[in-house]
Amino acid sequence: MANQKLELTWVGKDEQPRVEPRILLHDPSKDYGDSDTENMLIHGDNLLALKALEQQYSGQVKCIYIDPPYNTGSAFEQYDDNLEHSTWLSLIYARLLILKNLLSEDGSIWISIDDDEGHYLKVICDEIFGRYNFIEEVVWQRSFSPINLKKTLSRCHDLILVYAKNKTPNFELNKLPRTLEANSRYKNPDNDSRGPWTSGDLSVGPRVEENVYEIITPSGRKVLPPDGYSWRLSKERFNEFVRDNRIWFGDKGNNTPRIKRFLSETRQGIVAMTLWSREEVGDSQEAKKEAKSFNSKSVFATPKQERLIERILSLGSNPGDLVLDSFLGSGTTAAVAHKMGRRYRQIVKSSATLFRKEL
Ligand SMILES: C[S@@+](CC[C@H](N)C(=O)[O-])C[C@H]1O[C@@H](n2cnc3c(N)ncnc32)[C@H](O)[C@@H]1O
Repeated sequence: MANQKLELTWVGKDEQPRVEPRILLHDPSKDYGDSDTENMLIHGDNLLALKALEQQYSGQVKCIYIDPPYNTGSAFEQYDDNLEHSTWLSLIYARLLILKNLLSEDGSIWISIDDDEGHYLKVICDEIFGRYNFIEEVVWQRSFSPINLKKTLSRCHDLILVYAKNKTPNFELNKLPRTLEANSRYKNPDNDSRGPWTSGDLSVGPRVEENVYEIITPSGRKVLPPDGYSWRLSKERFNEFVRDNRIWFGDKGNNTPRIKRFLSETRQGIVAMTLWSREEVGDSQEAKKEAKSFNSKSVFATPKQERLIERILSLGSNPGDLVLDSFLGSGTTAAVAHKMGRRYRQIVKSSATLFRKEL
């Protein structure tokens, strides 16, 4: 019993392909741009390509983005998206095992998926990366108008599962740049000399008994934290905050206390949330339009747009970091990584090397 663990099983899980490491061959006829960069596009099956990369780049890739076949049952012009369920599971399992080895200790992997395989993928990722390394699930609004042929619900979002290689207490992703709109939420109703501020909750759960104490507002009202919560600050620290005018009791001094957070003291950037709207990062229509601009003959049904990839790479990597996409498709990630100054390894199954823009 002690050794029993929860895992997803399927026919063929234990028969993973044995792949011998290969050597990558440089094809100068496909060179593009600056030949001195370390960037590369690798043509071929990604299992072989990943195995080849594993020898040299284990533990070095800061950010991996993959957009694997979703197994929707469609037969796309570019590839067959209709694998038998267990075949798909074996395909993704074998690749994720190598992708994990490639990730650096402070790295993260971002995986686009939808409801066809997404929930099975989550369980597989929990097994491979460790459930404790799960960061979040991002919901990306890929479309905005309902498909009226649907008789039940019209799905308009994709998921992006995000895992850290090693989610230590110090692990962090980059922040999003501060916007004027975000800054405009900071006000200065009490003319504090430290400048505009916004207020945050003073109560926090779960309850820590030593931080449960009565606070008397300037108007004389007695306040306790809500049931199941305690105050965020010890009594001593709270009194220090009051002396430093960092607690806000409202205009009339009668509100439940809140902590003042000054714009001048916030770290640059704001933490990304998990709901990514089409206004923020674009949608499938935008992606198709972009793809058409460099390849009007054969536009893939669900490419990913630059703004989405840019968001992922800016949260998960810094200039000079190695990033990787092993289900490349139309090449968006390559173009974005290059533009953002990231080094990248891309693995392409198709034979064409496509760049969206002059790089
Ligand atoms: C969902 S699409 C990726 C779309 C891409 N992100 C874009 O924006 O166009 C999945 C891609 O994975 C590729 N693919 C599927 N199986 C593969 C394999 N074994 N090795 C390499 N690429 C593979 C397909 O050819 C397809 O281009």
